[in-house]
Amino acid sequence: MAQAERQFKLTLAAPSYAGLRSQHDRGEVSVDEPSKDNGARPPKAASNWTLYRGDALEAYDSWPAPSTIISDGAYGVGGFHGDPRTPEEILDWYRPHVRAWSKNAMPATTLWFWNTEVGWAIVHSLLTESGWDYVESIIWDKGVQHIAGNVNGDTIRQFPVVTELCAFYRRRLEFATPLGMMPARTWLRYEWRRAGLPLNKANEVCGVKNAATRKYLTQDWLWYFPPPDMMEKLVKYANEFGDRSGRPYFSRDGRAPITSQEWASLRHPWEHQHAVTNVWAHPPLNGDERFKGNHRRSAPRVYRPGKGSAVHLNQKPLSFMRRMIYASTTVDGIVWEPFGGLCTGSVAAIELRRRPFAAEIDDVFFEIARKRLTEAVRLRQRESRVG
Ligand SMILES: C[S@@+](CC[C@H](N)C(=O)[O-])C[C@H]1O[C@@H](n2cnc3c(N)ncnc32)[C@H](O)[C@@H]1O
Repeated sequence: MAQAERQFKLTLAAPSYAGLRSQHDRGEVSVDEPSKDNGARPPKAASNWTLYRGDALEAYDSWPAPSTIISDGAYGVGGFHGDPRTPEEILDWYRPHVRAWSKNAMPATTLWFWNTEVGWAIVHSLLTESGWDYVESIIWDKGVQHIAGNVNGDTIRQFPVVTELCAFYRRRLEFATPLGMMPARTWLRYEWRRAGLPLNKANEVCGVKNAATRKYLTQDWLWYFPPPDMMEKLVKYANEFGDRSGRPYFSRDGRAPITSQEWASLRHPWEHQHAVTNVWAHPPLNGDERFKGNHRRSAPRVYRPGKGSAVHLNQKPLSFMRRMIYASTTVDGIVWEPFGGLCTGSVAAIELRRRPFAAEIDDVFFEIARKRLTEAVRLRQRESRVG
């Protein structure tokens, strides 16, 4: 894949944007290739990318519901035109976006939130109040290269910072009951009890020694999302043998019990990658992968950019975006990248046969991202012909 990046020759001739404001650019491609995830040949499908030129807030409602959202927006460090100058200002900056994400999310939607440690700390409570459950933080360890030549040992009074982070969230799974909204863990036990069934009956029903009471119906941190086949057994038993007056049990709409497919769809996918932890080492982005040399001031704090200067200060490693998208979505999953920049997440999504929906407000970044996405599709098509 790194080869794919190298083969992309960027032409940075000043583009003309007349008549192009606030529109969606789409790249469509018919694909008929083996899935990289399971080797099965999927039906011939139209795969595409969508890139909105303008404010993501104007685009969200026209995009399909996201499987995952990759947010790499304001940091409060003046890192791009429009990035506030202090981290304290980013809470208001993110508020309308978080509202839109929550409105458009599905129960199984996940969120990857890139920021500095302090930026994330400021936005975290907004996210949890808006129904996003914190899972973990990925720490990008950039190594000593990140500070080489920039630390004055006589004046510094802290350890030099060489990290950036990406916090991972999932949509909080809750169910409506006459007692109010309940988290999944509470709801499962509540429904079983409401059916008038003893807790240990659940072990017998699931055919496990004490796993049901210890995992699926427990209220402590050992709680475990019941796999669909186990859930099916619990639901069937409660609705056949539970108190008649309270039926249906385990229902989302009050009319029919939940099916095992519905239950499965409430949980986001996760593709475990052996030996990958939450600390990801990668030097500051450089070399062939980094877009350089358009001589433009990409951010207020960039002065006199030369031919070796980065086109975008915040371009992320493609390998990180691939890893996140691969782990948390399946083929054809919808990936939102509202603050596209050079659209690294969307490029990774195309490579992995997901469907990216991105936005970029800055015309110059937009144009580079558009070319990059077009090229990613071309390379994927070529790869599938060769492979
Ligand atoms: C941190 S950068 C993203 C970098 C990207 N992850 C990459 O790898 O290239 C944020 C980008 O979001 C864009 N942006 C800021 N506010 C926006 C908005 N409301 N809608 C769309 N794009 C926005 C900025 O112009 C900037 O390029």
